[in-house]
Amino acid sequence: HMAEKGGYKHFMLKEIFEQPRAVRDTLAGRLREEEGDVYLEDLHLSDEQLQGIDRVTIIACGTSWHAALVGKFLIEEHCRVPVEVDIASEFRYRNPVIDEKSLVMLISQSGETADTLAAMREAKRRGAKCVAICNVVDSSIAREADGVVYTHAGPEIGVASTKAFVTQLIALYLFTIRLGRSRGMMTVDAGRALIAAVVRVPALMEEALKLNEQVEKLARNYLQARDFLYLGRGMNYPIALEGALKLKEISYIHAEGYPAGEMKHGPIALIDEHMPVVVLVPQGANYEKVFSNMEEVIARGGRVIAVCSQGDSEVASKAEVALEIPTDGEEVAPIILSIPMQLLAYHVAVLKGTDVDQPRNLAKSVTVE
Ligand code: G6P
Repeated sequence: HMAEKGGYKHFMLKEIFEQPRAVRDTLAGRLREEEGDVYLEDLHLSDEQLQGIDRVTIIACGTSWHAALVGKFLIEEHCRVPVEVDIASEFRYRNPVIDEKSLVMLISQSGETADTLAAMREAKRRGAKCVAICNVVDSSIAREADGVVYTHAGPEIGVASTKAFVTQLIALYLFTIRLGRSRGMMTVDAGRALIAAVVRVPALMEEALKLNEQVEKLARNYLQARDFLYLGRGMNYPIALEGALKLKEISYIHAEGYPAGEMKHGPIALIDEHMPVVVLVPQGANYEKVFSNMEEVIARGGRVIAVCSQGDSEVASKAEVALEIPTDGEEVAPIILSIPMQLLAYHVAVLKGTDVDQPRNLAKSVTVE
């Protein structure tokens, strides 16, 4: 079985290391650098249609829902359209405010998740235009949607999503550029700048993957933990949720992701010397705020695993562990931060001896309700 795993011990690790390639494939042929725009071959929505919408609702489950939360941040920031994010099993049993002027986006790696498919049918019934971000060509959701932005991650075998997630994020950056440009909310220069940022992603990921050995070594210090807390702010907050989900899924350690500024309203009560707290504190917007949240954790004895920018000696001197990621990418930080989140969950799970690629009770794709 080592051969089909490309020499890696698990599909999950193979897929983590495939991510730079998966991102390159998802970008291939789509960038129009000159115009500061992108070409999405299966989007099937004209500029006029994109101009006609007055809201975006993004619907998904699981890891794909975390991608959706990053999408809200990107679209609101760059396109100035209100974006709502919903979990598919909630959306389909609500009475959502959706009409012909709504753009509904479904994010699903498999394109077969029953709740997401049902949510799309409900949105269509109410007249919304539906766009899907899918990894599986001709899957049910991709076929029924008005348009698709395919991720080109390739088949994902590990139940815990890795390369599908980061390519969903890439698809969201691309869609944001298209929506912003078509609606005149994004200048050519702003479009070019965002394209330049996503083009740098594969190289930044290669750099971040070098953390593998460090994470493998430190993982053994956390096997006894009963709970983990993950903190982030802004568009890195969904990555805290995703980091916690990865750990839960494959290591069976309870973990919770929280917006760092909300910690004082509850989870701070849990912090003691037994509690590892992963703090996402890269340079950029919110840095000072998250830094002070980290200090609050340390003051209560929490064991901080900080993920910070390379060379941040201030964070490194305070945290129990500092995982340093490349500094060159505030715009794409959620993507780069995902790598240490995946590696930490992976190595803790391997050391605990769980079935990393097939965690108990979980399915790769949930096609029944
Ligand atoms: C299952 C998988 C998750 C995935 C979720 C949504 O729970 O175990 O990894 O994020 O379904 O799947 P989808 O294919 O719709 O993205």
